[in-house]
Amino acid sequence: MRLFAALVPPDEVLDEIETAIAPHAGHVPGLRWPARATWHITLAFFGEVPERVLPGLQVRLARAVARHPAVDLAFDGFGAFSSVRRARVFWAGVTGGSMARLADSVKAGARRAGAVETDEKRFHPHLTLARAKHEQDLSALVESLAGFTGSPWRAESVRLVSSTLGAQVRYESLAEWALAPPEPG
Ligand code: 2AM
Repeated sequence: MRLFAALVPPDEVLDEIETAIAPHAGHVPGLRWPARATWHITLAFFGEVPERVLPGLQVRLARAVARHPAVDLAFDGFGAFSSVRRARVFWAGVTGGSMARLADSVKAGARRAGAVETDEKRFHPHLTLARAKHEQDLSALVESLAGFTGSPWRAESVRLVSSTLGAQVRYESLAEWALAPPEPG
C-alpha cells in the first residue's frame, strides 16, 4: 500500500485559499486542480509499504506524534515545483512551527517500523493545488496571487493516509493521532 503522513488544515483556512485561487482554478491551460476534499500537507511520504508493516508503523507513528507539540502555522504565498517558470506542481506554501522536526521524527519512526521511505528530498512544506502534465511557466498565476497570507492555524494532529493511484487518485485516512499540547510562548 502507498502511504504518507499528512496534516490537514482546518476548513476556515482552506476557505481562504479556495477564495484566493477561485478566479484561476480550472482556467489555466495545462493545469489540473485536484478536488478540495483531497487537499493536505504531506509531512512524510513512505511510498509502497508492505501490508505486514502497517501495525508496527502505526505504533511508531503514534509514539512519534505524541512526543511533538502542536504547531502554529500559516499559509504564506504561492509557488511551484520545480520552479515557477518550469512548474509541474502549483502549491500554497506553509510557514511557522517546527514542522521539519516533526517530519523527521515521523520518518525515523517509519524507518524503524520497516517502511522503505522513498522521500529523500529536502522537506518543503506545501499544499498542492494543481498539477501540470508538462513543465509550464506559471509566473503570471503566481504574480497575480502575490501578497496572500492566510490566517494563523494550529496543526493539532497527524493523519496516516493511503493513496490509491488511478484515473482519479483516492485517499483514505487510516489513522489520526493528536500532537501534544503546544509549547508555551
Ligand atoms: P505533492 O502534493 O507535492 O504531489 C500523496 O501522493 C502525497 O505524497 C502528495 O502530497 C505528494 O506530494 C506526496 N508525494 C508523492 N510522491 C512523493 C515523493 N516521491 N516524495 C515526496 N512526496 C511525495
